[in-house]
Amino acid sequence: MDVEKLESDALAAVAATGSADEIERVRVEYLGRKSALKLALREVRDRETGMTLNALRERLEAAIDAREEELERAELDRRLTEDVLDVTLPGEERLLGTLHPTTLTRRIVEDAFLGLGYEVIDDREVETVHYNFDQLAFGPAHPSRSHRDTFFIDPVRLLRTETSPSQIHVMEAKKPPIYMVSLGRVYRRDEITATRFPIFHQFEGLAVDRNLTLADLKGTLLHVMRALYGEERQVRFRTHYFPFTEPSIEPDVSCPICDMQGCRTCKYTGWVEMGGAGMVDPEVFANVGIDPDEWSGFAFGCGIERAAQLRHGIPEIRPFWENDLRVLRQF
Ligand code: DAH
Repeated sequence: MDVEKLESDALAAVAATGSADEIERVRVEYLGRKSALKLALREVRDRETGMTLNALRERLEAAIDAREEELERAELDRRLTEDVLDVTLPGEERLLGTLHPTTLTRRIVEDAFLGLGYEVIDDREVETVHYNFDQLAFGPAHPSRSHRDTFFIDPVRLLRTETSPSQIHVMEAKKPPIYMVSLGRVYRRDEITATRFPIFHQFEGLAVDRNLTLADLKGTLLHVMRALYGEERQVRFRTHYFPFTEPSIEPDVSCPICDMQGCRTCKYTGWVEMGGAGMVDPEVFANVGIDPDEWSGFAFGCGIERAAQLRHGIPEIRPFWENDLRVLRQF
C-alpha cells in the first residue's frame, strides 16, 4: 500500500470539500470500515507497519475534523451577513387582551363582598326542579316552571333560571351563621331584544345569622351599590313579591347616569331597579332544616350585565355576548 499517495489523495479530497455532506463522504471513503486504510490496518502483522498506518489514520482524522470546523465557521459567517435583521422595520402590532366588562363588574362585586367577610362561591349551572323551584317555595303553578320560560334537559333537570338555588345548597351544606355570595350564568327562554338575552349573569347573596333585619339588608346593598357606582349613591326599597322571601322588596339605586337629574335610563324618576331581595321565608328555612325562631336571614339577586351597563353607560345587553373586538377593546 502506497501510504504517501493515499495521504496526498485524501488531503486533496479534504481540501476540495465545500459542505458538511461532502466532508462526511470523504470521511467514509478514507476512514470508513471499508476504506483501504481500515482494511490494511486489519491485515497488519508487524509493529512498524501498524504504527505507520495508525499515525496516518490520526493525521487524516485531524485534517477532516479541522476542515469540518472551518466549513461550519464559514456557514455561520455567511448567515450572519446574509440573514440580516433590520431592527428599523416597523413591528407587527400584537393585540393585548383586556377583561370583559362582565368580568370587570363581577370582580367589583366579589371584592365588595369579600370586604364584608362573605364567602364567594361558584355553583352549578345545571340544576334540578327540586333546587331551582321546590326548595325555593315556588308554587306548583308558577309560570317559571313551564317549558316556555325555562330550558329543561329532562323532566327533572334544567339550566338554572337564577342563582338563588345556591342559597339552598349552602344552607344544606353548612350551619349558620352564613354569609355567601354566588356569581355566575343563568338561563331563560327569552327572545333576544335590546334588554333581554337567554343567558346572562347574576350575583346572589345570602346572610343567615341571629337578629338580621331589613336594615342590615339595606346597609349591605348600599355598600355594594357604592362599590359599583360611586360613594354618592343611595338605595331605596319598593315592596314586591318573591316566593322565597317574606317580606320581599325590589331595591332601587339612585341613577348613576344622571345623578337623579332625570334621564332615559331612570325614565326620569331618578331611580333604577337593581334586582330583587328580601328576608328569607320561614318555609325556605324549614326546607333546609334551619330553625326560623333562632335564625333570620336576608337574600338578594341582581343581574351583572345590567350592573355593567349602568357602570359603563352601555345601552343594550347584546354587545356583552357578541364578542365584537371594537366594543371589547374599549374596556
Ligand atoms: N332570583 C330573583 C330573580 O332572578 C332575584 C332575587 C329576588 C334573588 C329576591 C333573591 C331574592 O335572593 O331574595 O329575579
